[in-house]
Amino acid sequence: MLVKSAEFVCSNTQVDKLPDPNLPEYAFIGRSNVGKSSLINALTNKKGLAKTSQKPGKTQLINHFIINNDWYLVDLPGYGYAQTSKKNRADWEKFIRKYLLSRENLQCIFVLIDSRLEPQKIDLEFCCWLGERGLPFMLIFTKADKQSGVKSDQNVAKFKRALLKWFEEVPHRFVTSSETRLGVDEVLHKIDEINNGFSTPTSVGE
Ligand code: GTP
Ligand code: MG
Repeated sequence: MLVKSAEFVCSNTQVDKLPDPNLPEYAFIGRSNVGKSSLINALTNKKGLAKTSQKPGKTQLINHFIINNDWYLVDLPGYGYAQTSKKNRADWEKFIRKYLLSRENLQCIFVLIDSRLEPQKIDLEFCCWLGERGLPFMLIFTKADKQSGVKSDQNVAKFKRALLKWFEEVPHRFVTSSETRLGVDEVLHKIDEINNGFSTPTSVGE
């Protein structure tokens, strides 16, 4: 898929103020600093579209971007940010989980995982939470430019093995780098495929 346009639409903490759910939507989620915003900029080929930072905790809201006037891409705040207060963490839980559970046009949740790390409990638990609720998700391993391909593949395999303790089948996996654009076209291709099968929620049963 060619990204011809990518525009910021709005930022929200309230689920009832989100844009109409009339277009397919894809959310990017994962630990703070894993590279969500950077990947969104790589996918759209627009540096600075989603705000990035070396300091974790940069993205605080539900940020909607519209791509090709045809689908929504959503940048979410990261989980597991140690410097955040308990109250902030509880707020994150509440509004992000509410968003994930209630957004009817959400086609796929891309869970981003740092390819340099051994499987982390917080990521596995989050995947289980999604799986238990039947929410569709795929895994994107980030920052693959920071080490050898072999090392990334090893960590992907370990994560897969860990998930197989809970899942019969492991969701689709991508290995990416926002620096080298590794895997970026594959993610866009998958989104294109899902978009082609999308029908507006309101039109179902009409
Ligand atoms: P929060 O919004 O705080 O949750 O973080 P985030 O997940 O959006 O991470 P962000 O995209 O802001 O990136 C965090 C840091 O990692 C920045 O310094 C990025 O430049 C760096 N980074 C992100 N992706 C990559 C990558 O693929 N390769 C390399 N080398 N650095 C990356
Ligand atoms: Mg961010």
